Amino acid sequence: MTDYQATRARVEDYFDRSATKVWERLCSDAPVSRIRQTVRQGRDEMRAMMLGQLPADLSGARILDAGCGTGLMTAELARRGAEVVAVDISPQLIAIAQEKLDPRFAGQVRFAAGDMTDASHGSFDHVIAMDSLIYYSEGDITAILHRLGARVRGKLLFTVAPRTPFLMTFFAAGKLFPRADRSPTMIPHAFDRLARSAGPGLDRVGRVARGFYISECLEYRP
Ligand SMILES: C[S@@+](CC[C@H](N)C(=O)[O-])C[C@H]1O[C@@H](n2cnc3c(N)ncnc32)[C@H](O)[C@@H]1O
Repeated sequence: MTDYQATRARVEDYFDRSATKVWERLCSDAPVSRIRQTVRQGRDEMRAMMLGQLPADLSGARILDAGCGTGLMTAELARRGAEVVAVDISPQLIAIAQEKLDPRFAGQVRFAAGDMTDASHGSFDHVIAMDSLIYYSEGDITAILHRLGARVRGKLLFTVAPRTPFLMTFFAAGKLFPRADRSPTMIPHAFDRLARSAGPGLDRVGRVARGFYISECLEYRP
């Protein structure tokens, strides 16, 4: 199995089996611990930052929500008028996203359980991958950007975990003490290295740091 397939299998196992309920709760309004509350707030800020890169009126735009999870971004894109293809490797999360979607927008959204890079999903005006590439290596992210980049006319927005001292400490600790639950390890990336690997067209958009949530939004123009 290649790196990409091995990582994707771990991610699927984690979101589809071990952490489905925890993730659903984090992505809802239900009470969570103070630490998770900072993550929720940080993720709300990041979602707003990413949406802020797109026109407010998305009527007629075909957008891929790559790794849509429980569909928070999908719902917002549909609310702004987009035709959304919402793809996630976890069938359980796709089912939750489908159930949560306001029925008024059901006609605008096509859900699919599977790989975000699958060419059968077609081409797009924009692609958004929020926190769904954070487990992948530099080589895998580059390959994903190239595969998706070939099918996007406008913006390809995604997030990575930046190489901050805080996140690097966690990364190193995770490597020293591999977790028994097989949860996927988040891999922090340095922008310059990623830019060298992905080629021209990679730009910084902005960073959100809220408690335990530290994430950087990047834009790739092929
Ligand atoms: C941290 S969650 C983020 C979910 C959603 N984007 C959000 O911000 O709420 C990462 C999601 O990416 C999905 N994912 C990761 N790699 C994927 C791949 N190669 N194809 C499809 N989905 C993938 C996971 O199953 C998971 O639901």
